Amino acid sequence: MIKTQTLPADAVLHTPANTPSKNEPTNRPHQPIRSYVLRQGRLSPAQARAIDEGQSLVIPHASGLLDIDGVFGRHAPTAVEIGFGMGHATADIAALRTDENFIGIEVHTPGVGSLLKMLAERQLTNVRVIQHDAVEVMTSMIADGSLAGVHVFFPDPWPKKRHHKRRLIQPAFAKLLAQKLQPGGYIHCATDWQEYAEHMLDVLNQESLLVNTATGFATRPAYRTESNFERRGLKLGHGVWDVVFRRA
Ligand SMILES: C[S@@+](CC[C@H](N)C(=O)[O-])C[C@H]1O[C@@H](n2cnc3c(N)ncnc32)[C@H](O)[C@@H]1O
Repeated sequence: MIKTQTLPADAVLHTPANTPSKNEPTNRPHQPIRSYVLRQGRLSPAQARAIDEGQSLVIPHASGLLDIDGVFGRHAPTAVEIGFGMGHATADIAALRTDENFIGIEVHTPGVGSLLKMLAERQLTNVRVIQHDAVEVMTSMIADGSLAGVHVFFPDPWPKKRHHKRRLIQPAFAKLLAQKLQPGGYIHCATDWQEYAEHMLDVLNQESLLVNTATGFATRPAYRTESNFERRGLKLGHGVWDVVFRRA
């Protein structure tokens, strides 16, 4: 049994009357611009069970700063992954880098179930999950200068020009992410959408706290394994671009 409703408190629950057409934003006047549309994807019984049984790895959204050492029970370099989707990269990276902590943030319930299922199956103890808007989590829960890394893999590209404002990587959010990094900490973004890749590079280049680790795009770091979205993009003939910047 799932005891608690795990949707973000401000989630828009779609009824037939208000369900937007596919990929249409749900914002109404005076609501913040969100980088996501809550999909009603099917929660499998195994994912539901993983959510029920994995609550010790779920951090509730809160308005105060998170005690990272407290929730992991140790002091270790900590990276945040924003929008982990089904969590394959998150679990792979956590398995590879067991001396580090990872906080995955995602709004999509089946994705949360999928990651919690993999964490249980692979007996990974170095990941915690927050199901909430990452913009709010990063703003209110993560202390400045506290992170060793930030991962943003295949964020929604919002290809239509009128939707570009919904992209996660924007100057203000890039500054916020940079402020959360320790000196030397990194931000790693990847996308299969060339125009968004160029936009990411521009935005991060313009952030004075950050320095590019490469000349232009980076070679894919070995820890980033291929995700479902990446595979789909590659099948469609898209390229893949990584950008890795460090806090000076
Ligand atoms: C295109 S998918 C990519 C998923 C995954 N990173 C991958 O590579 O397969 C983008 C994901 O980001 C999530 N997302 C978008 N904006 C978000 C936000 N503000 N907070 C949390 N999750 C967000 C979406 O729900 C979606 O699952």
